[in-house]
Amino acid sequence: MANKNLNKAKEAKKDEFYTQLEDINNELRHYREHFRGKTVLCNCDDPRVSNFFTYFAYNFEFLGLKKLITTCYKNQNIDLFSQNKSEQAVYLTYEGDKNGDHIPNAEEIGVKPLKGDGDFRSKECIELLKEADIVVTNPPFSLFREYVAQLMEYEKKFLIIGHQNAISYKEIFPLIMQNKLWLGYGFKGGAGHFISHYEDKATAGDHREGMIRVSGVTWFTNLEIKKRHEDIILYKHYTSEEYPRYINFDAINVNKTEEIPMDYDGAMGVPITFLDKYSPEQFEILGKSLDLADMSVIKKRLGKLNGGPRFYIEKEGVPTRLYERIVIRKIKK
Ligand SMILES: C[S@@+](CC[C@H](N)C(=O)[O-])C[C@H]1O[C@@H](n2cnc3c(N)ncnc32)[C@H](O)[C@@H]1O
Repeated sequence: MANKNLNKAKEAKKDEFYTQLEDINNELRHYREHFRGKTVLCNCDDPRVSNFFTYFAYNFEFLGLKKLITTCYKNQNIDLFSQNKSEQAVYLTYEGDKNGDHIPNAEEIGVKPLKGDGDFRSKECIELLKEADIVVTNPPFSLFREYVAQLMEYEKKFLIIGHQNAISYKEIFPLIMQNKLWLGYGFKGGAGHFISHYEDKATAGDHREGMIRVSGVTWFTNLEIKKRHEDIILYKHYTSEEYPRYINFDAINVNKTEEIPMDYDGAMGVPITFLDKYSPEQFEILGKSLDLADMSVIKKRLGKLNGGPRFYIEKEGVPTRLYERIVIRKIKK
């Protein structure tokens, strides 16, 4: 048991994997207008390995940035990728091309030592955060809650990679409900390949050399994007047969986002993937099954519970447990 927990902890702390430039480019191209005249901070980014640094340094003039700051975290583990043996945490600043060669040269990049280890929560790193307009990075997933809480506290604009499991966190979901955080364009097929030396569990067809495949990764942001204001085209009509009511919550069940009925005005439970298509002008979010499901009804019917709170529907006389649902309602126009 102890061993299992230890393995789980190790598993949860697998934070050393690096984002491909191509994936950064794919997402960032939708946000260009936000960066003009802005200071960007990448605060989980050893510039020796981070493509976030590369992306912003090489696109500095194109985006019209004011300043780029990146901080490097001195990891306790030996960094497999690092050529530089220095254990000193540093931060870098770049204020654009000076010598006209359109390339960020060593003499144009200011490298300064940090007193501490470069933890994004440290006082000196918070000072750099205060200076920034927009924070862009792939932070450690194991510290995602704290990472987002800090961005909120300092009221920063951000675009960060996280796991879609984070959507359900009690610290994150309310931010989605209040339209303080939403999903970006995301990774193709909801999975990304990251540069890493961890053992890859992907199937042979999905394996790429020197990378791990991480499924369920997505981008979280509070920067305005076009897709957030595009309505989902609805074409289905409501029938009580096709959209049964839950046994343990007053709403109808919708199995696929594209099947949301166009003519139903009450509460509807939809899969989490709805958030990829969510426009606050079309729907409001009322909550999620984890918080809203009345499990006492289910316990009475089944005599026991098979897991945490979820919505149930009646299937051939048996209460059937569904995946997590988000409860939404159409905005009256
Ligand atoms: C998922 S990796 C991504 C690295 C890089 N941002 C990228 O996308 O290529 C997360 C990084 O955060 C660093 N890190 C872990 N804990 C940190 C902390 N408390 N403060 C700052 N960085 C941290 C890790 O060393 C790791 O390099």
